Amino acid sequence: MTTSTPNLVVTPSAHPLSDAERAARMVNPAFGRIFTDHMVVIPYRDGKWQQGELKAYGPLMLDPSASSLHYGQAIFEGYKAFAQPDGSIKTFRPEQNAERFNRSAARLAMPAIPVELFLEAGDALISQDRNWVPKNTGESLYMRPLMIATDPYLGVRPSEEYLFVLFASPAGAYFPKGVKPVTVWISEDFVRAAPGGTGEAKCAGNYAASLMAQSQAQEKGCDQVVWLDAVHREFIEEMGGMNLFFVYKDGEKITVVTPELTGTLLPGITRRSLLEMAKDLGYATEERKLSVQQWRDDIASGRMTEVFACGTAAVITPVGVAKANGFEMTINNNENGAVTLALREALLGLQHGTAADTHGWMHKV
Ligand code: PLP
Ligand code: COI
Repeated sequence: MTTSTPNLVVTPSAHPLSDAERAARMVNPAFGRIFTDHMVVIPYRDGKWQQGELKAYGPLMLDPSASSLHYGQAIFEGYKAFAQPDGSIKTFRPEQNAERFNRSAARLAMPAIPVELFLEAGDALISQDRNWVPKNTGESLYMRPLMIATDPYLGVRPSEEYLFVLFASPAGAYFPKGVKPVTVWISEDFVRAAPGGTGEAKCAGNYAASLMAQSQAQEKGCDQVVWLDAVHREFIEEMGGMNLFFVYKDGEKITVVTPELTGTLLPGITRRSLLEMAKDLGYATEERKLSVQQWRDDIASGRMTEVFACGTAAVITPVGVAKANGFEMTINNNENGAVTLALREALLGLQHGTAADTHGWMHKV
């Protein structure tokens, strides 16, 4: 049966998975390997967004000459839907993702999508595939909106046609070892983003350019790369798909510090949310530059007690060891820290609906 939401024609899949098959796939979903029965596609042409469709998940048809395949006009987002204790489903700050999507679009000379349409697509997909939203704490339905340029044209200029796509993936722990400290490699050989570049956009090319550094980190026995600023190669920016926080303890006073937004790192929605939640928990917060040398000194003096990474996919992940050419330091005995876990618990409580949504961040589907 075909129905519709205000801007989407809904054509349910003729072959959705059976309840038993779906349940089997949703056991320990990990991250990014299984996808729900449906997706949303909305084409853009003639200067406007056209009729969209919610339909069976499946391959896209693209011209080999589609410009995104050559020149990388491609952006994406990531946000999550959570089952609530009363059986409803809520997403975490999806309008923030819509706004960041449009900032990424502007940087890559792509069209903006109305925030209401972005939210409608998410809500419609979640409603259609609501049985795919995991119920276990720490699990969620990861939503992946993206936009690609589809002009069949090899000239280098902004495309005139685009495709917005949204699909969903049940998600558990991003790191295979769960909530255990990760080991990071501070990259001196590669940089992620330079001033004036695309560092604060969530564009595909940023991730392609990071892969070699990520491989190097793994060769050095590390889980993730830490990026430094491109100019001085001195100040900490962020990690592969996560922002970083540094915890300082001075007597009773706890301060959480995160690198300031410089235009070269991704303004994470988890980062922004944790800066506010930290205050709720009575911690002081600072956004400022932090050099590798300062990081080393503050660990050595014991002033810095914990380090953690945060992002939609990774939630909050402790950093236990940091390495670079010629040094290695252990943070908090390579154990999960109390402040890290307190923030993690507060964030997950809010998202899963077991703690009050005092900021009004949860969006009811
Ligand atoms: N930094 C990078 C490079 C990312 O890809 C992400 C993930 O989206 C983040 C930081 C964290 O951002 P958010 O908290 O909005 O997921
Ligand atoms: C996210 O946390 O949503 C990300 O995009 C991180 C990574 C999977 C690219």
